[in-house]
Amino acid sequence: MNRFALAGGKARRSLTRQVLFVGTAVCIVWFLAVGYRGDVPEQWPELEVPDLRTPPQRMSADNVLPELAERKACYGPRGRLLGQSPDDDLVARELDGPYPQPWAGSFEEMGLDLTVMTVDQRYGPYGFNEDKPDYGRQRVDWDKVDWGQLQNDCFQLNRDRFPEFARALDDTRPEARFGFRNASRFPEIRHWHEFESTRRTAIVLRTWRGYKYMPEDFHYIRSLIAETSLKSGGEYQVILLVDMKDYEGYKNNIFASKEAYQQGVRDAGVPPEFESIAILWDNRLLQSWYPKVDEYRTMWQVFQPMQLLALHYPEFDHFWQFEMDMRFLGDAGKFIDRITTAARNEPRKQALERSSFWHMIEETGDYGEFFRAVDKANDGGSHAWGPIPVPEIMPIGPVPPIEDPRNETFQWGVGEEADAIMMSYCMNANIPNGWPFKTWVQGLRMGLDTPRFYCPPAISRSSRPLLLAIHQAQLEQGIRIPSEATLPSFALWHGLKLSFPQHPVFHRDRENHAMRAKWWRGGPRASSTGLGPDSSSHPRGRGLTFWWESDWTRQLFSAWTGQGGDAPWLLHNFEGKLWAPNIILHPVKHLT
Ligand SMILES: *[C@@H]1O[C@H](CO)[C@@H](O)[C@H](O)[C@H]1NC(C)=O
Ligand SMILES: *[C@@H]1O[C@H](CO)[C@@H](O)[C@H](O)[C@H]1NC(C)=O
Repeated sequence: MNRFALAGGKARRSLTRQVLFVGTAVCIVWFLAVGYRGDVPEQWPELEVPDLRTPPQRMSADNVLPELAERKACYGPRGRLLGQSPDDDLVARELDGPYPQPWAGSFEEMGLDLTVMTVDQRYGPYGFNEDKPDYGRQRVDWDKVDWGQLQNDCFQLNRDRFPEFARALDDTRPEARFGFRNASRFPEIRHWHEFESTRRTAIVLRTWRGYKYMPEDFHYIRSLIAETSLKSGGEYQVILLVDMKDYEGYKNNIFASKEAYQQGVRDAGVPPEFESIAILWDNRLLQSWYPKVDEYRTMWQVFQPMQLLALHYPEFDHFWQFEMDMRFLGDAGKFIDRITTAARNEPRKQALERSSFWHMIEETGDYGEFFRAVDKANDGGSHAWGPIPVPEIMPIGPVPPIEDPRNETFQWGVGEEADAIMMSYCMNANIPNGWPFKTWVQGLRMGLDTPRFYCPPAISRSSRPLLLAIHQAQLEQGIRIPSEATLPSFALWHGLKLSFPQHPVFHRDRENHAMRAKWWRGGPRASSTGLGPDSSSHPRGRGLTFWWESDWTRQLFSAWTGQGGDAPWLLHNFEGKLWAPNIILHPVKHLT
């Protein structure tokens, strides 16, 4: 069947008019190729065959959901209502002087609080320094805390704020919901319109068997659950998605039974307090679902387990993918709320173009000026207006409400949840660049000419429709592109909403204007296409607070948490303490 899927848009359009003729022609072609000769040519030559797949249902262009009712407070690990429990609650303070100005991104545009915290204020509620006599908070027996239960109780308390389809996540666990494809209790393919919105978002923290949970990891995970899930009235739910790798317990099938799965949880080394939020997967699971892709390694296919989550966990509309080496220096829940809101409020027009430049206040002024500069560089038009056509993809995203983007006034998409929220700027894979994954494409007739965008790192949010669409393309067609291109490219091919909320990022060498200019590369004004800087090269990013190769992040975190090292300038030193601004750090690798 998939041979026939390799049809161009032209052929697809003619389908309605000439369906009878074409249908007959295909029967003949099929007979010649399969029925008569028996052996199938590896590749169809230039012959245009019609696409016989049923076109998917497309989304409405008006996709704005109503606001949820006010959040109700939930109970924290000390058995008290959060927000009314000083031992559990965060205290942040404002600075007397000016707040530091980021290298890229903007606190104001994101609506982030201009506050600072000491490490005791930040992580004290989660056990930081609990072994010190002056801890000053009620101590918690953490092994007795059940974070899954706390999250579900919180959801139940808030049940009436959500649509009737919303469910707690405690229905099957600790049994496996995942299973090999040949034994799955779920349909192999599900479409976006088969689901009702639940208004709930999973925060999926990726970890693996044998991961060494350090004290700072416990503080990180606990803070994430308390601040995102428990303080949002259950709008978020934190899940530990555990890569079992090639674990061989239970006849190579941890999904076979409840006992097998529970043994897997123990062998994975998941700390007791997080056992009820763990979901396990392994290489065999991916192999059984995606044999046509034939590549399962994280560096290439980090989203395969996320795709399976979307298929198996209808509790959630959206899935954040987080990593163990991130740190929110302020309230994680507020931060994620603001990022999500910024993405929701972004218009669709030129969202890709704005994502392809890094907004730098020092270079271009506030976000409004940046926005106008991108518009100017694009003459009011847009490179991604509706789906970007790719022959193999039948889009599910909406048809734009106005045909010509130049006639649209940045209204479309405002208030609409983004299907892909990226946490770093995006690059065009089709301009000359040194991207190491550039040639890694399979299952796409246009090959290296296929329009692709990549926005590292994998920290991102994707919607259920987007993940299900990727799942189907991998399962049926074996389409594969590298991890960091997967979400943005599929989103654009389908005409789904993409957003890069420009959260604040700092650089160690804040005074190095020449270096900043090499990242800025003239910005929108110097771009000949309006779609990112003409040159893809930039300096190394080791001094950035959010960049895959940074090591300044570890230095900042170690100094702030008293694990050693001199305090970098970004930590505010006053009253004998170090105060950190309200940003995310990534990556913060373990000290070994
Ligand atoms: C089902 O799939 C698994 C994993 O791919 C495989 O090990 C097993 O042999 C299959 N079972 C059957 C009955 O085909
Ligand atoms: C766009 O607006 C211009 C000027 O108002 C008008 O002449 C043109 O017909 C419009 N184009 C479309 C496609 O509506």
